[in-house]
Amino acid sequence: MSASTRTTAPLPADIRAMKGRQPIVSLTAYTTPMARAMDGLCDLVLVGDSVGMVVHGLPSTLPVTMEMMILHGQAVARGLTASLLVVDMPFGSYEETPAQAFRNAARLMAETGAAAVKLEGGRTMAETIAFLTARGVPVMAHVGLTPQSVNTLGGYRVQGRGAAADGLLADARAVAEAGAFAVVLEKVPAGLAASITAEVAIPTIGIGAAVDCDGQILVVDDMLGLFDAFKPKFVKRYARLAEDARSAIRTYAEDVRARRFPAPDHTFADTEPGK
Ligand code: KIV
Repeated sequence: MSASTRTTAPLPADIRAMKGRQPIVSLTAYTTPMARAMDGLCDLVLVGDSVGMVVHGLPSTLPVTMEMMILHGQAVARGLTASLLVVDMPFGSYEETPAQAFRNAARLMAETGAAAVKLEGGRTMAETIAFLTARGVPVMAHVGLTPQSVNTLGGYRVQGRGAAADGLLADARAVAEAGAFAVVLEKVPAGLAASITAEVAIPTIGIGAAVDCDGQILVVDDMLGLFDAFKPKFVKRYARLAEDARSAIRTYAEDVRARRFPAPDHTFADTEPGK
């Protein structure tokens, strides 16, 4: 079924089955109105921990909490009927033990209605992914640039160039074999992303990983130009909402100062009954 005609939400297994058949369309969302705007147009909607940076103005995703993910997950769930909802596991909520990961994944799913969670990490997370999937938690993995590890990676750099390619391929293989239903490839060079996509049995969903991935994801505020403090190379801007908002607010301020707003159309007359 094409995404533009979706009327019911796909399950993680449906997303997995799209590999090699049709490109998977996904975006992040953090609020009900934005979820409504993409419902059914996207196969998969991710409540990313990027919410910390793009909505809350935090310097990285590291301070994002379970409570923030639950609040935004619930908001997005209210706007979706025809896209798969996936919620990110925040830093510190899953790395310690598989049992800790299960406890927090189950809480995210129970309190938001999400059908799956996403977590960052390759070989080191394989045991946890196997533990979760065996217990009813579908997992989308995330390898390459994993922003929660920005401090050990030494910045938001492209991953997998040169000698690092084999390690990244091993990460993607490990999460696929552990049972992930899809894997996000972030900031991975084009050739390596194509090789991983050809090699693993689950869909690759690229962000900064070129066109040969099985699907694509972007942070919605980036592609709409709502977050315009900086623009990563891999982002294509489809709108300029921050600019439009500034311009509209400037006009509103001028109207208020010039007493052009509110006009009679926006005003309640003293004598009109019932309005
Ligand atoms: O947090 C996020 O928005 C993400 C996507 C960029 C994949 O992990």
